[in-house]
Amino acid sequence: MNAAPSPALLDVAGLSTSFAGPAGRTRVVDDISFRVAPGTITGIVGESGSGKSVSVKSVLGLVAPPGRVEAGTARFAGTQGEIDLLACPRAELRGVLGTDIGFVIQNPFGALSPVTRIRKQFVTVLRASRRHARTARGELDELAEATLAAVGINDPRRVLEGYPHQLSGGMAQRVVIAFALARRPRLIVADEPTTALDLTVQRQILDLMAERAAELGASVLLITHDLGVVAHYCREAYVFHRGRIVEQGAVADIFHRTRHDYTRRLIAASGGRRDTAGAEAVP
Ligand SMILES: Nc1ncnc2c1ncn2[C@@H]1O[C@H](COP(=O)(O)OP(=O)(O)O)[C@@H](O)[C@H]1O
Ligand SMILES: [Mg+2]
Repeated sequence: MNAAPSPALLDVAGLSTSFAGPAGRTRVVDDISFRVAPGTITGIVGESGSGKSVSVKSVLGLVAPPGRVEAGTARFAGTQGEIDLLACPRAELRGVLGTDIGFVIQNPFGALSPVTRIRKQFVTVLRASRRHARTARGELDELAEATLAAVGINDPRRVLEGYPHQLSGGMAQRVVIAFALARRPRLIVADEPTTALDLTVQRQILDLMAERAAELGASVLLITHDLGVVAHYCREAYVFHRGRIVEQGAVADIFHRTRHDYTRRLIAASGGRRDTAGAEAVP
């Protein structure tokens, strides 16, 4: 007898999103379903243009016209109960996003305001969380400093006093990850968080994000075009191809019992790496 599946933190079902173009509407995400279990790192992998970013933006309410979510549900187990992110009122969605979900995008400078000191941006992010709406300012400053230190920033005070343009790409992405972690979210959605960074920095930052998320008991939805990254960090993964999911399951199975030629090409493109640390942890 099979045990009932454990409740998901995020359960997306039947999601379709379209964009209007000269030739009418095109579905760039077509009836996809995926789950993120509590306390795990789940991968979404696929080549550029396969619909990864549009999918997560759909779930987070960030698709703007001419884009439109056509169908689907996205059940999320938030601190204030389970809600459907695709159906809840805007204000409630903002509350959940500010409190329970951290979003890290590819270009950290796109997530930071260039004209505001980092300290002020950090405090604004924390204040948006229901948990810190009434926390004293001094405590928020301490939390900001401690979180920057936890993501490997040696001189948090100097960084907090400065502006984003004074930071390298890697340092800026650490700051954005700290923004996401400091609220103690249940889920961190990381959309190609290291693609814009040097190879040596990529692994450091992914390691750190994985470690800090594990400490918080948070799940990570890790989006990447690199199956090697998925093999290293994720236990479960979904392979996207042209707006659809063509393969899914335990990472070890995706590597060793590959069903689709497209996945074989991704494996080849990742250098055929099978250092499946995440997969080995599967009992
Ligand atoms: N704002 C937009 N307007 C029109 N088409 C878009 C827009 N954003 C994304 N698309 C299209 O949606 C498809 C999926 O894009 P995306 O999710 O960004 O891919 P990925 O993140 O996998 O690289 C692509 O064909 C892309 O051209
Ligand atoms: Mg993308």
